Amino acid sequence: MKSDDERVAIVGVGHSRFGKRLDVSMNELGWEAIRPALQDADIVQKDIDFYSVGNFGYWSEEILPAVTIGEYAGLTCGSLKTEAACASGSASLKIAMDSILSGTARIAMAMGIEKMYNSPNGTIIELIGRAGNYFWEFENFGMTFPGYYALYATKYLDAYNAREEDLCEAAVKAHHYGSLNPYAQFQKETTVEECMKSKYVSRPLKLMDSSPITDGAAAVILARGDIAKKMTDTPIYIESQGTATGTAYIGRRDEYTGLEASRRAADIAFRGAGLSGVGSNFDLFEVHDCFTIAEVMAYEDLGIAKKGEGINLLRGKQTYRDGKYPVNLDGGLKSKGHPIGATGISQAVEITKQLRGEAEKGRQADIKKGRGAAA
Ligand code: COA
Repeated sequence: MKSDDERVAIVGVGHSRFGKRLDVSMNELGWEAIRPALQDADIVQKDIDFYSVGNFGYWSEEILPAVTIGEYAGLTCGSLKTEAACASGSASLKIAMDSILSGTARIAMAMGIEKMYNSPNGTIIELIGRAGNYFWEFENFGMTFPGYYALYATKYLDAYNAREEDLCEAAVKAHHYGSLNPYAQFQKETTVEECMKSKYVSRPLKLMDSSPITDGAAAVILARGDIAKKMTDTPIYIESQGTATGTAYIGRRDEYTGLEASRRAADIAFRGAGLSGVGSNFDLFEVHDCFTIAEVMAYEDLGIAKKGEGINLLRGKQTYRDGKYPVNLDGGLKSKGHPIGATGISQAVEITKQLRGEAEKGRQADIKKGRGAAA
């Protein structure tokens, strides 16, 4: 059992409205998340010893967001930008957490931000595509992320006798919860029929199977466990975080119905928390549903469904709030939006709100075990 000074807890959260945010600069968007996080933790800028900023960024106005946002927000301590493609926000959380665990910070802030609409959609889709293997796949075949996930979807549907309509069920769930989340990009319900009628982006994936292009920011304030306890009655401890890196070259992967690196990261995280697996230890989950197929694969990679049975969880509505494994009660990337560098932090904000019982009406999970997991 770790002592309090060997643990890290979230003591404050802030979230901007996600969407097409042409009304604000990047620094203003960052402040929209930082200000409520400071207020929530009841601290001021000088109390923060270190902060990290998750950002992918090549498309936006500021290429040094950690510097410019910090300056705009009045932060004077050391900082770093973290970039790990769609995991940039989770990387920011890791770096800030490690700054506390290493003893160099007592209170740290992890934030994430992306301002994607600074560039035209085609440019953004191209730049995301270059996060895959550049030479063999992007340059030779023009691979983009809708294209990559379409390969997974094609294999999964074929291997497990599933239909495009089944994938659309994930979009229906996402939009249902997005409609209840005031910070979400799309706050409206959808149906399987509407999803099936939407245009193909990369067959079999359609517009409604895809996360959108999004501007947004999110921030969490972290504190060493013993300090956190004095700051708030509801510290949300981060029991563990697992990271794993797979090959960016899809041609070198051994399977196309799941992500091996996700399974390894989940295993490390479970072991770090003293758990042997997902079991019945969690009240809710946040997963990276950048496309509907990614949500289904995440169910299986996390272990809430056996291989090939993820689709049955959706068919049986088991990942709705009242199901056995509530997943993405904030609308997920699909409906809340996917501002790449902010997404991992947004998941941490959501789990914190849920565990504190502060989520909006209709999407608050029933908290019994006091634990959430994000992948
Ligand atoms: N879901 C629902 N509606 C969407 C949407 C989505 N994902 N994306 C866009 N829309 C809507 C827009 O609001 C707009 O509606 P309006 O005409 O009523 O204003 C309309 O569809 C057209 O939007 P636009 O932005 O011009 O679409 P697009 O065709 O240029 O781009 C995608 C759509 C799906 C191709 C693009 O959002 C995309 O590439 N998404 C994936 C991003 C990605 O790869 N992220 C990393 C994942 S790992």
